[in-house]
Amino acid sequence: MINKDIIQKFMKTNQIGKRIFYFGYIDSTNLEAARLIETSKAQFGDVIVTKTQSAGKGQQDNVWQSPEGGLYISIITASKVSEYSNLITFTAGIACIEAIKNISGVKADLKWVNDIMYKGNKLGGILTQSFTRGDISTNITGIGINANSVNINADNKSYEAVSLTELAENSVDINVLIAEICLCFEKYFSVYQQNPEKIVSTWLKYSNIVGKQIVFDNDDAEIVGTIQGVNNSGHLIIKNEEKSFILTSTKGIKSCLY
Ligand code: BTN
Repeated sequence: MINKDIIQKFMKTNQIGKRIFYFGYIDSTNLEAARLIETSKAQFGDVIVTKTQSAGKGQQDNVWQSPEGGLYISIITASKVSEYSNLITFTAGIACIEAIKNISGVKADLKWVNDIMYKGNKLGGILTQSFTRGDISTNITGIGINANSVNINADNKSYEAVSLTELAENSVDINVLIAEICLCFEKYFSVYQQNPEKIVSTWLKYSNIVGKQIVFDNDDAEIVGTIQGVNNSGHLIIKNEEKSFILTSTKGIKSCLY
């Protein structure tokens, strides 16, 4: 059972999650975060938490089904616009992997660009949206994890969903997991600001993609290549015998053995 007082009791952060906006039911925590920003009510570190969502959003306009038992939060931050701006999704991914491990012992991994996986099954995902004014971006980082529920993302059938309860030895307290994600996110957000390249190397450590084969569409041609890594903008670097390619989104990917 999600409970704001219990989340606050476990929260050990300095900034992230100092203010929690709790809902039993809402359209989407990312939409609520956007409303707080638009009405100038948002502060750095605000966290929106809900039990269920009626209009949960996933990447590429997918629906994110949000039954009770899942974890649905959005974290509001601000950062300077730079070549590293996309790495906020990576920062959240690393935080989720470490928080999940610390709380449940489950060793999940990351799939480019925003998926939290366990042995090829989807455990969760991240949706970051940014509003830029001048050289400052206000970021909404939405996190959905199949904690005690299994979420089937209706528009993406390429892999099965799995939940933390199925994987962990003991059932997972979502309140504790939210507080731990905030703590890990705060730690890695400061790494992101001070040494963003460290975010890339840590993300790669948790993703296991280097050297894997990938097939994608490029200007009407189907390319087969090998993943070399990601650059400082979080884009995928691919090489085949002829040349190098940079992928900025998962849209053209046909298959990938990772
Ligand atoms: C994906 O894998 O496609 C990303 C899923 C992100 C879902 C979370 S749930 C909390 C936040 N609010 C939303 O509407 N979406 C994100």
